[in-house]
Amino acid sequence: VIDIRKLYAETGHFTYDPGFTSTASTESKITYIDGDEGVLLYRGYDIAELAEHSTFLETCYLLLNGELPNPSQKTSFENSITNHTMLHEQIHFLFRGFRRDAHPMAVMCGVVGALSAFYHDATDYDDPKQRMIAQHRLIAKMPTIAAMAFKYSIGQPFMYPRNDLGYAENFLQMTFGVPAEPYKMSPVLAKAMDRIFILHADHEQNASTSTVRLAGSSGANPFACIAAGIACLWGPAHGGANEAVLKMLEEIGSVDKVGEAVKKAKDKNSGFRLMGFGHRVYKNYDPRAKVMRETCYEVLEELGVKDEPLLKMAMELERIALEDDYFVSKKLYPNVDFYSGIILRAMGFPTAMFTALFALARTVGWISQWNEMIEDPAQKIGRPRQLYTGATQRPYIPLDKRK
Ligand code: ACO
Repeated sequence: VIDIRKLYAETGHFTYDPGFTSTASTESKITYIDGDEGVLLYRGYDIAELAEHSTFLETCYLLLNGELPNPSQKTSFENSITNHTMLHEQIHFLFRGFRRDAHPMAVMCGVVGALSAFYHDATDYDDPKQRMIAQHRLIAKMPTIAAMAFKYSIGQPFMYPRNDLGYAENFLQMTFGVPAEPYKMSPVLAKAMDRIFILHADHEQNASTSTVRLAGSSGANPFACIAAGIACLWGPAHGGANEAVLKMLEEIGSVDKVGEAVKKAKDKNSGFRLMGFGHRVYKNYDPRAKVMRETCYEVLEELGVKDEPLLKMAMELERIALEDDYFVSKKLYPNVDFYSGIILRAMGFPTAMFTALFALARTVGWISQWNEMIEDPAQKIGRPRQLYTGATQRPYIPLDKRK
């Protein structure tokens, strides 16, 4: 381990690493990625196995606690999450303060940050029990907040959480249900939703997780830290990419124009990149994208969507790019966002909700990482250094002497 301060004091050198491409900011036992081999493990379990056999809540328990739950732990965890799904009624007023056309991510940033005004006990995070309650509250309330953001944007009444339903089912019910009619639940869509949540649950020190850790390193309230993570996730180079994939496919317009788009993406001056392609860590097929592609087929079949033009374009784009020297040599493969937008669109989510769903699912990763940081005896406030390249010291120039 290199002591940067010592190195700097002795040699005048320290690491300059824009974008942290090769600097570890922390040790972690939560998620392992081998980007060259396309491997993703949560606490040692392969993402594909979890997507097939686990549930999102079981995966949450695993990420938070390090081990899969035994039957009684599973039941008590699920009961605790169910117990915390409601939002304080005062939060309804907060929602009403937003414009109807507010982006759901803007609403989520605000509402999740505002939870810190409701749960003062969460500042007592030397106490593991208080930390656990904050974690459970966040996981439980995110679907309620995301669904309310959606309902508010379309002017429908809020739907209250139903504790007799599973996590994904309850979210679908709050999003697409209406008070007068019982919501018709498709087990295939509920399973697909749950799997999408599992695939997005954690991804080690990505930009939003690092943001949560950095915010938390100052001792900020966990709800405020998660709000910071949501803000970071919003950007198109991170969580906004699935929205950008759909926009790109719609702009391309038809399968026969895909080749032209791939050509354009190779031209740096065009300012156009293939959205949903490339990843900072994966230099191989993103293992989440594989599961996502299968899920996409299942969802479209369940919904009876045949010959979905966007899916056809996506497949053609993948085929052409993966045979193209530019993409092969730069190891640019489809990432998790490439197929998720098509699934979510087919399920009835407007594009503005895509990143909100990502935030919902990633909350468990953020809060697990936050908790690991708090428990780490080596933890200290995050304080990156800089290489100053500005002016050297100079005298102040009075206003009447300036040109
Ligand atoms: N299309 C075309 N060229 C690309 C693409 C792309 N999607 N992605 C990277 N490249 C090229 C770059 O131009 C660069 O070329 P150069 O070496 O000749 O300069 C090279 O590949 C490396 O790209 P960088 O931007 O330096 O790689 P970085 O690791 O910083 O970026 C990122 C990764 C942001 C994901 C990038 O691949 C990208 O912009 N992809 C599209 C957006 C996207 O899908 N984001 C989702 C990421 S996954 C997630 O957040 C869950």
